[in-house]
Amino acid sequence: MQKNSKIFVAGHCGMVGSAIMRELEKQGYGNVVVRTRLELDLLNWQAVADFFAQEKPEYVFLAAAKVGGIEANRTQLGAFAYENLQIQNNVIHSSYLNFVKRLIFLGSSCIYPRLAKQPIKEEYLLTGALEPTNYGYAIAKIAGLKMCEAYRAQYGCDFVPVMPTNLYGINDNFDLKESHVLPALMRKFHEAKIANQPFVEVWGSGNPKRELLYVDDLAQACIYIMNNEKITELLNIGTGEDLTIRELAELMKKTVFYQGEIRFNTSMPDGAPRKCLDVSKINSYGWKAETSLAEGLKSVYQWYLENDCS
Ligand SMILES: NC(=O)c1ccc[n+]([C@@H]2O[C@H](COP(=O)([O-])OP(=O)(O)OC[C@H]3O[C@@H](n4cnc5c(N)ncnc54)[C@H](OP(=O)(O)O)[C@@H]3O)[C@@H](O)[C@H]2O)c1
Repeated sequence: MQKNSKIFVAGHCGMVGSAIMRELEKQGYGNVVVRTRLELDLLNWQAVADFFAQEKPEYVFLAAAKVGGIEANRTQLGAFAYENLQIQNNVIHSSYLNFVKRLIFLGSSCIYPRLAKQPIKEEYLLTGALEPTNYGYAIAKIAGLKMCEAYRAQYGCDFVPVMPTNLYGINDNFDLKESHVLPALMRKFHEAKIANQPFVEVWGSGNPKRELLYVDDLAQACIYIMNNEKITELLNIGTGEDLTIRELAELMKKTVFYQGEIRFNTSMPDGAPRKCLDVSKINSYGWKAETSLAEGLKSVYQWYLENDCS
């Protein structure tokens, strides 16, 4: 990308899209086009086709999607499938029709097979059954990844799919019904501190291990990949390191300055015992995550306090 290249960030208000916007600005990219959902509903084919024909973006970051935690995914399997398929079909096909030079499509580590060997390598995709609670989302995202590959094979489009691990950061969703584990824990600990509660209940045994990537590191990776034409294959993006939910809860307690106790509710399910990506491929291309979890949590909590997310 040149500093004046026309870049479309789809989903710029979301956690990932807004991090990409911050990083583009930091790196001096000055010609970024964005549209809110009200201005451009990406589910609407004609509106998307007209937008691309008029704006002719050269580079596209496709970070718009219907995203949510286990409960939202489990209860809205159809909506997760439909909306994600529709958004990506519209944006990927319009990018092809309008000669977009390069597009980055965001997949997600939760679409690997449920019982994938750990750490998860890129080639494990489609080698086993999916997680039943989010198969609507997963099947749509897999279609998106494969569509990028198919458009490269048939039309020569330079569309690159990436597979980020669990993310956290500024603009995360802190709604307890919809959120992922990290923002849910931050909110629980913060509210317990404010209400002087003697303990915080954490679901499950605390033993499962998870990998967490700061979203600003992901944004850097996406721009790094966009600018590295040698990269055309699917790449995992993560830290390659995981920690137990117990360790995460301890770190969160420290970050939030909560003085009470942590209690694990072992009657709640644990989910997969471990989820960690093998990031040796992206590391071999010269990119590595930089932000420690302690630093990342500190920045997010600061932002949470300033933005009154409760
Ligand atoms: N969050 C994670 O832990 C994680 C992990 C791995 C991969 N990813 C991937 O990263 C991408 C972005 O996720 P995120 O966490 O940033 O999600 P997010 O915060 O929910 O952001 C999604 C964005 O997409 C926009 N959007 C959704 N439907 C739209 C529509 N019909 N028309 C226009 N805009 C629409 C949303 O607009 P509104 O602001 O109007 O709602 C929002 O700005 C997704 O592809 C996701 O699969 C996320």
